[in-house]
Amino acid sequence: MELKAVMMKRRSVRRFTEEPVSREQTETLLHHAMSGPSACNARPWEFFIVTRPETLEALRDAGRYTKHKAPLMIVVAGNMKKALPMQLRDFWIQDCSAAMENLLLSAVDLGLGACWEGLYPMKRMVERVSKILNLEEHIIPLGMAAIGHPAEDPEPRDQYDPKRIHWVE
Ligand SMILES: Cc1cc2nc3c(=O)[nH]c(=O)nc-3n(C[C@H](O)[C@H](O)[C@H](O)COP(=O)(O)O)c2cc1C
Repeated sequence: MELKAVMMKRRSVRRFTEEPVSREQTETLLHHAMSGPSACNARPWEFFIVTRPETLEALRDAGRYTKHKAPLMIVVAGNMKKALPMQLRDFWIQDCSAAMENLLLSAVDLGLGACWEGLYPMKRMVERVSKILNLEEHIIPLGMAAIGHPAEDPEPRDQYDPKRIHWVE
């Protein structure tokens, strides 16, 4: 699909069929996620791929807004051992967010649907998901993408707002 069509079509999809996402599609999503930019090209990201029904259920139960039943969840996490030092550390959030957005766009291109479910900086959500995935201390889950074959097709929408643009002379 052309990039501009993908950008406009991307909407949060929260209902999915039971058809699994193939291994090949999952690899494509991850290729695109990891082609994102990161500060100093540190790439402080880790991706946790969940398809086991019990683990999917536990992730769904982690929060009020994470209830969407998808055959695939990809948890995007920051690796603090790979993050930049000192005051540059928090760039991991932007780096992982760029990877997450790439994932969402890639899903559209593959004919899949996806929804970003935020974790960080909600302490409890981070703790719950870390426990479910048995994450080490230095791994902080930023968010999870619920991904699958869409069972709904939200209308593309243009949110362009000229009032939010400030041409600096
Ligand atoms: C950081 C972040 C966290 C989000 N968390 C959730 C969430 O927990 N549950 C959910 O259903 N949607 C979540 N969303 C999706 C937003 O609700 C959605 O992007 C927004 O309403 C705009 O709709 P659209 O994605 O269809 O354009 C999140 C999006 C972002 C960027």
